[in-house]
Amino acid sequence: MIIPGAETQAFAAALSEAADERLGRVEYERFADGEHVVRVPEAVAGERAVVVASTVDSDAHVQVLQLQDAAREAGASEVVTVLPYMGYARQDQAFKPGEPVSSRAMARAVSTGTDRVITVSPHEPAVCDFFTVPATHVDAASVLADPLPDALDDPLFLSPDEGAIDLAETVRAAYGGGETDFFEKDRDYDSGDITITPSDAAVAGRDVVLVDDIIATGSTMSESVAVLNDRDAKRVFVTCVHPMLASNALTKLSSAGVEAVYGTDTLERAVSEVSAAPVVADEL
Ligand code: R5P
Repeated sequence: MIIPGAETQAFAAALSEAADERLGRVEYERFADGEHVVRVPEAVAGERAVVVASTVDSDAHVQVLQLQDAAREAGASEVVTVLPYMGYARQDQAFKPGEPVSSRAMARAVSTGTDRVITVSPHEPAVCDFFTVPATHVDAASVLADPLPDALDDPLFLSPDEGAIDLAETVRAAYGGGETDFFEKDRDYDSGDITITPSDAAVAGRDVVLVDDIIATGSTMSESVAVLNDRDAKRVFVTCVHPMLASNALTKLSSAGVEAVYGTDTLERAVSEVSAAPVVADEL
C-alpha cells in the first residue's frame, strides 16, 4: 500500500498508478498545541507499506516519522520510505565550524522507522550513505525532456555548473538531439549572491535549455538566463527535477525573460509538468 505524506499526495497517486499498488487514505490532523497526528485507517497487515513523503519542511519531517510508525502499528511486514524530495540534502557537510551535517541527522532519523529508502535525484548521491538502512537514489532527469517543445532550434542543454552536467546530458539524450555544455558558478555563502562565469559555447540564435537538480531561490537560474540573454540566445527554457521555487524565485525567472519553467512533481508546484513517479516505480 502506498501511504502518502500530506504534501506529496499527487506524487503518491501517480506512484500508485505506475507501480500498480493501492493508494491508502491517510488522515492528517493537528492538535490545538500544533502537534501533528496522522491516521492510516486501512489494514496493511502482512503487506509492504510504501511511505511517500517529500520532506519539504519540518512538519513533513515529523509526518514521515509518524507515517512509518503508523504503518508498523497497522502490521506492515515491510516499510519502504520514498523521499521524492529529500529536505536538508544540500547540507551534506558542516560548512562552517559548529554546524551539523544536517542531511546525516535527518537520514538517521528516517532510518529508524523503515527497512529501505529511495530518494530522487539528490544534490549529492553520497547522502544515501548517511542512512543506516539500504538506501538508493534514482535519477529523474530523463523525464524532463517530456514537456519541452518538439522543435527546439539547434538546442543547447546547459547546466549552470559542472556538477549538473550529467543531468543536462541525460535530458539531451532523452530529447534526442542537441549539444551540452556547462557554466561555472560561485556562491558567496554569506550573502548568497551568485556569480556565473559563462563558457565560450555559442548560444546566439539558439534555443537553450538550462538544467539543474533544484531551483530554490532562483538566483542560479536567473543569473544564468541573464548571461544567455546578453549573448542573444533565441529562447531560454529552464527545467529542474525539484522545483522548490522558494520565495520570489518564479518572479525572478519571469523577470529574467525565460520562455518557460518546468519541473517534476517531487515538489508539487504550478510548474510540475511531468511526473517522476514512473522512475521510482521501476526502482520499487
Ligand atoms: C547547487 O549547486 C544546486 O545544484 C542548485 O544549483 C542550487 O541549489 C540552486 O539554488 P538557487 O535556486 O537558490 O540558486
